[in-house]
Parts: sequence; C-alpha cells; structure tokens
Amino acid sequence: MGSLFGARLASVGESVWLLDTSEPHVRAIREKGLAVVTTKGETIAFPQATTDYADIGTVDLLIIFVKSAATRAAAESAAELLGPNTAVLTLQNGYGNAQVLAEVLGKERVIAGTTAQGATLLEPGRILHGGDGLTHIGEFCGGISPRLQQIAALLSRAGFATTAENEIAPLLWGKLIINAGINALSAITGLENGKLIECGETRTILEMAVSEAAKVAAALEIQLPYDDPVAEVTKVAIATAKNRSSMLQDLDAARITEIDAINGAIVREAARLGLAAPVNQVLVLLIKALERKKVSSVD
Ligand code: PAF
Repeated sequence: MGSLFGARLASVGESVWLLDTSEPHVRAIREKGLAVVTTKGETIAFPQATTDYADIGTVDLLIIFVKSAATRAAAESAAELLGPNTAVLTLQNGYGNAQVLAEVLGKERVIAGTTAQGATLLEPGRILHGGDGLTHIGEFCGGISPRLQQIAALLSRAGFATTAENEIAPLLWGKLIINAGINALSAITGLENGKLIECGETRTILEMAVSEAAKVAAALEIQLPYDDPVAEVTKVAIATAKNRSSMLQDLDAARITEIDAINGAIVREAARLGLAAPVNQVLVLLIKALERKKVSSVD
C-alpha cells in the first residue's frame, strides 16, 4: 500500500521517499523504478527509496502503512523525519494506530482514515493495484482544517478519490467492523472474501462476528457510516470477492497478523464495556493458534 501511494504521488510530480525494511524491494525500485500492475497494464514510477531514515531529512507529510503491530516502533523511529509542521497520516487497517501515533508523535500532527484501495507485492519492485475505492480522512482532533483539505486534494490528484471528514471515529469503526467480519474468517478457512458469503457456515459466523462488533460500536455511541453492518460487510465481501484478505496473505507469508488490532480490539472494547464478544474471541484464539503454527515454524 505504501508503494502504491508512493508511486502515484511520485507520478503526479510530488517528491516522494519510500522507506522500507525490505532491501530487495528498495534495491529494485532504485535500479528499475517501481512497477504498478493494473488491469489496464503496467506503469513505472520513480519515487526515491531507502532503508535508512537518515537519507530522507524532514518531510511535509509522513504516511504510515506498516502493519498495526509495528506502528509504535515505526512512530518512534520516524521522529527524525518530523519538522515543526509535518502531518502524519495513517490509512492502516485496525483500531488503535491513530492513538499510538498521537501518543508518540503528538495528537495535533495526526490525520487518520480508511481506504478501499488494495495492493499486493508481486515481487521486489513490482506491485499489483488490485482494488479501487474511496479514501476518507479526518483530523485526529476533529474538524475540517485547511491541511486536511489540502491532503485530500493531493491524494485525489494522485488518483485516489478522497474526502475530508469531520470526525474519524465513525470512519475507523466502519472499516474495523468490515475487517472484523472478513479478515480472520478468511485467514482461518483459506477462503477468498466472496466465498465467505457463498458458504452458509462462514456466512453465519461472519454475521455473528459483525453483529457483536456493531453492538460494541453502538454502546460507544459511534455513528457508523452505514445503517446495516451485516449488509455492508456482505457487500464489501462480494465487491472484493476474489481478494485473499490481508490477514490470509499475512498467514500465508508466515507474518504476524493484525488480529490484535481487529477482532482483538472488539474483544477489548467489549470487555471494557461489560459486553460479551465470544465469536470475536474465538476468531482471535484461532488466529493466534495459526500464528503459532505458521510464524514460529519459520523463526
Ligand atoms: O484487509 C483487507 O483485506 C481489506 O481491508 C478488505 C476490505 C477486507 C478486502 O480484502
């Protein structure tokens, strides 16, 4: 996702640095540019790329796309990229990333949001832009600031239709509930998103997990950006029918998943409110067991 946003921003003339821990990816981008594959063909962008913060200097806008488990470490190491007016944008999946960034870097810097864009790394220096859809962003502290509007305009100019929103909680919860319904279930079963709806058993579990999560959001008085959570998650699963969810991709690649920031966040918030979330809890436990099997067998 970082490569996708970086490639598009570089293509419209912005000065972009990509910072990644993957040396092969950075080397390939430096040598041949960054290839973005879509159904319409392949384009090459030429952002600068490095594995070393010291190459970059201070930036106007820092966009964080690491997996949720790495947000705190990324924020702590990113401090040296910040000038007095640097804004920090997160479009990551999961709940709690914006809070961590606000804690480490200062809440007035933070802008958070969601995106329906989808990207997959095909090989070093080459990504697939597999899904297109709206991006929504909002100030961590709320309100529509001039910089929020500027960043929405910038992302839109780069090809990511983006709206500036007054409040982030409805956005983040809206996306959280979608990920809580789809991601763990697809990772456990190995099914593509669309199959979770076609198969009666997984559809039932999806509906149970989403209903629980929606009850937690209601108890927190979050106004979700849709009326019917189960219908919305079903719609997203059908719209992304051929996707292997990001959590399924994480397990396949023997990476730690974002379960703690997705279904884990629902379970924690439910417990804080005195509500039960047993289906989300079971999804968390099953993913943890699979992580133990897949991730520790690689270590
Ligand atoms: O994490 C993901 O995979 C995506 O957010 C979504 C929307 C579930 C589509 O696969």
